[in-house]
Amino acid sequence: MSSVDTTIQLIRTGAIPGTVCSPDLADGPWVFDRQPEPSYGPGSSMGDIIPVGSPRQGQLPAEYRTASNNELAARIHAAKQTLGDRVVVLGHFYQRDEVVQFADFIGDSFQLANAARSTPAAEAIVFCGVHFMAETADILAGPHQSVIPPNLAAGCSMADMADIDSVEECWEQLAELYGTQPDADGRAPIIPVTYMNSSAALKGFCGDHGGIVCTSSNASTVLEWAFERGQRVLFFPDQHLGRNTAKAMGVPLTRMPMWNPRKPLGGNSRAELADARVILWHGFCSVHKRFSVGQIEKARAEFPGVTVLVHPECPMEVVDAADAAGSTDFIGKAIAAASEPTTFAIGTEINMVNRLATQHPQHTIFSLDPVVCPCSTMYRIHPGYLAWVLEALVRGEVLNQITVPERVAAPARIALERMLAAKPGAPVVPADVIGD
Ligand code: 13P
Ligand code: SF4
Repeated sequence: MSSVDTTIQLIRTGAIPGTVCSPDLADGPWVFDRQPEPSYGPGSSMGDIIPVGSPRQGQLPAEYRTASNNELAARIHAAKQTLGDRVVVLGHFYQRDEVVQFADFIGDSFQLANAARSTPAAEAIVFCGVHFMAETADILAGPHQSVIPPNLAAGCSMADMADIDSVEECWEQLAELYGTQPDADGRAPIIPVTYMNSSAALKGFCGDHGGIVCTSSNASTVLEWAFERGQRVLFFPDQHLGRNTAKAMGVPLTRMPMWNPRKPLGGNSRAELADARVILWHGFCSVHKRFSVGQIEKARAEFPGVTVLVHPECPMEVVDAADAAGSTDFIGKAIAAASEPTTFAIGTEINMVNRLATQHPQHTIFSLDPVVCPCSTMYRIHPGYLAWVLEALVRGEVLNQITVPERVAAPARIALERMLAAKPGAPVVPADVIGD
């Protein structure tokens, strides 16, 4: 199976049939760095509104824009050889193959956060993922280390759906409603839990208010942690991960109101909030929103016996209709654990799905979504930018460094360390069809 980039190019030239959600995906990401109006760029988040002041990437020098993939690969390889242990390259599962091939560590956001803090020998951590992951690496890395995302415009539309001002405003309203005193069991009125996919400011907010960070691989463990310490949870920014996780833990949907930051009391009555167990922020991932129950029904009709695995950022109906849901790491391990040739339909980002299909030729593995539509922001990292930042390091120049100010980093570190101390939990939905 060819890479997603190659597939997009082949579809564009008509060499293979297929549909891509935006023809612009066939262009290099630098085309979008240059546009006067910032946007997430082509891909799943192209319809989302980017906040004013989001980080932008300056123009990539022409020599990197015009180089062939083979030339870039040779230059990246040479720069890495020269830098040796002085650099570590981290790659998220959703990165394109052309980038992932150079990663020293490939993983989900939890694994990459751990990798960042466990490579103290590296002066530079080149983070091929999105902005919040690079911020997290900077918070966990040593003061002698610089964290470098190859393209500063690689944000996350979901992370951007909760900003610190709106969360603080929400918190004030909730404090007015619930008070601030613990109950007879010593539990706080409310504990904030932020998904890893959030700005450093929100992680800092959680650290300052007795809260914690979670990832999709430990969300139920983290919610248990929070329920031991609080009567209820404010969960941001992803409503779906919050709902799917709490539902699997037995929290009724009627006790999970949604907080819309544009409405007073988030659009809820005082009675609804008084009864709440988990208050869900009105955020979502545009990659995972594309998956539907209809796609699962179609896969089941066409491939009887198919195993459907989805990420818990998918809507609840999709998670309910799947055989199992879990983090990117869970999906990879579930496939690796299948001993017999199996057909898998997957609901997560297309780069990861295609890679799994290549790695496991004994299985039939395909995306639930027939349209090729990668994450817009993961797509903003291209080998051209990787070569650019690595060759700069060889010259002694640090480009694109992410620095989280210590007043934000200190409380964010507390919230992250609480999470890292909690063990990664079980998949959100018991994986009864997987394994053995
Ligand atoms: P993981 O935490 O599973 O790596 O997912 C990160 C992400 O961005 C999912 O959309
Ligand atoms: Fe953000 Fe969704 Fe992309 Fe993950 S897949 S980085 S949550 S937009």
